[in-house]
Amino acid sequence: MARYPEELIEEVRSRNDIVDLISTHVQLKKKGGSYFGCCPFHNEKTPSFSVSRDKQMYYCFGCGKGGNIFTFLTEYENYTFTEAMEYLADRSGIELPKQELSQEAKQEMDAKALLRSMNKAAAGYFYYILRNKRGERGLQYLTDRGLSEEIMKKFGLGFADIYKDGLYQYLKSKGFKDKDLKDSGLVTIEERGAYDKFFNRVIFPIVDVNNRVIGFGGRVLGDGQPKYLNSKETLLFDKSRNLYGLNFARSTRKHYMILCEGYLDVISMHQAGFTNAVASLGTAFTSSHALLLKRYTGEVVLSFDSDGAGTKAALRAIPILKDAGLTVRVLNLKPYKDPDEFIKNLGAEALEERIAQAMPSMMFEIQVLADSYNQQDPESRTAFQKELAKKLATIPEVLERNNYIEAAANRYYMGAKDLQKLVERYGTMAGFEKKAEEQQPAETREQIRREKDDAKKQPQKLLLTWYVNRPELFEKLKHIIGPDDFVENLYHSVAIMLFDQYAKDGRVTPAQIISQFPDTEEQSEVASLFNARLKVAPLPKDNEKVLTDIVKKVKSNSIEEEMNRSTDIVRWQELIQKKAELQRLHISL
Ligand code: UTP
Ligand code: MN
Repeated sequence: MARYPEELIEEVRSRNDIVDLISTHVQLKKKGGSYFGCCPFHNEKTPSFSVSRDKQMYYCFGCGKGGNIFTFLTEYENYTFTEAMEYLADRSGIELPKQELSQEAKQEMDAKALLRSMNKAAAGYFYYILRNKRGERGLQYLTDRGLSEEIMKKFGLGFADIYKDGLYQYLKSKGFKDKDLKDSGLVTIEERGAYDKFFNRVIFPIVDVNNRVIGFGGRVLGDGQPKYLNSKETLLFDKSRNLYGLNFARSTRKHYMILCEGYLDVISMHQAGFTNAVASLGTAFTSSHALLLKRYTGEVVLSFDSDGAGTKAALRAIPILKDAGLTVRVLNLKPYKDPDEFIKNLGAEALEERIAQAMPSMMFEIQVLADSYNQQDPESRTAFQKELAKKLATIPEVLERNNYIEAAANRYYMGAKDLQKLVERYGTMAGFEKKAEEQQPAETREQIRREKDDAKKQPQKLLLTWYVNRPELFEKLKHIIGPDDFVENLYHSVAIMLFDQYAKDGRVTPAQIISQFPDTEEQSEVASLFNARLKVAPLPKDNEKVLTDIVKKVKSNSIEEEMNRSTDIVRWQELIQKKAELQRLHISL
């Protein structure tokens, strides 16, 4: 990793306010001294994600992710540290020293950054071929499929021709090495030679929300198998965390997003003016996809193929989307197979109308259910009604549930009262509004997490948090506690830095400490050390007792650790003495 001087990193960090930055991505509300919002790193409906302006840190009490402004950008935008530095420096008007791209620096470059530049070069190569004599057949194919030059350009479409190693030779000529090329998934290198992964295919570059190429899809011209080839997952390309088209869709100011199945669906949608269309690209739709969508919208319109497979995929995606807190509607494209065909035959206006009529997901699920029973046969119809009631009983809101009961009763010719009774029966059996773990308040979830936490670690965490919140404790406790009393490895390093900061400046900047740890998981853990909370908030008059208690626990734990290690009998006696004295300790605030 290209490393900047520590002072520069700290300057960039301190010139950017974490609340300002995060609030452009996550809706935050002020609550006490902190800001709270729904965590962008896990599914939740009640906010447990906190951002502190004083500490310049974020921490989620639900999933335990946390860190400073650099951690946030690496986790949220998938930036490398260098990219986060560049972004933040730019944002605050700081000029960074130019990094020379010498051979040495190249080797130092992050694996991710290296992959990025390889992908970028490859995309350039494919793009060039498509618009060249060698790409004529590809261009013909795409034109026949109704794509304009403008849209091909917008999506950076390209072509891989029939040479077995055209891309390989090109990338070599750009200075990339075999061992790096192997990791890119773009070529296979064997003893007999190198082969491009993609040949004789039109190429769809897959880009992330920041318009950086992370992988490719390639389609055969015509009917060959497999129809599509996709890049394998790499450090950059996590299939479940990317959606095709999101780089454009994220900035359309529509209140919903359209979720399609494939590359060409997205592209024809965009060409027809529906620039809010995205696709999950062949891989199963996951909750990470849903969370990604949740960053940009509250509503998703499903536009899957209108065949059995598309219906099945929709039924799978609906609960995932709803769990992420999204409203879901389902588009009916019949009699056409997919959005591409629909638009070709009926045009954009007709599609706009269909979108306006798209069915709420619950009605869609009910319809699929109804279609799977023979409504003419009394026995089958009764079975349907029972299943229907079970389904309706899962709607937690009374009002909403009743609305659906009425709608379903109307549609399937049942008495609303009868259906209501049946729903209530299943509802009581399953327990209406049963609280999922997700719906528990942040405090409860935090408590569960904490109870799992080691009983020895918790007092050390609490004490570190107290130091940060009330720096006067450094003076108050200086005869009792030192950095060495924090015996957990990571806590010890953090304590050394924290005590050091206080000794130097008389104040602490915990967010700076986070920058010292390269890995985001450690950063989260460090953030947790500064965000420990007591099970029960102490009454003001209890404060002294609580603090004394914590100090006692930390100290006696560290004494015991030393006793375990020490073989010196004199030291042993001292330690025993110290431990006994500890019982009489009382700290007054
Ligand atoms: P489809 O078979 O519906 O393709 O697969 P499509 O996007 O409609 O393309 P055309 O219109 O037939 O050319 C939907 C998506 O599933 C993935 C691709 O991402 C595709 O866009 N897929 C499909 C694959 O990854 N591999 C395959 O062999 C087929
Ligand atoms: Mn399709």
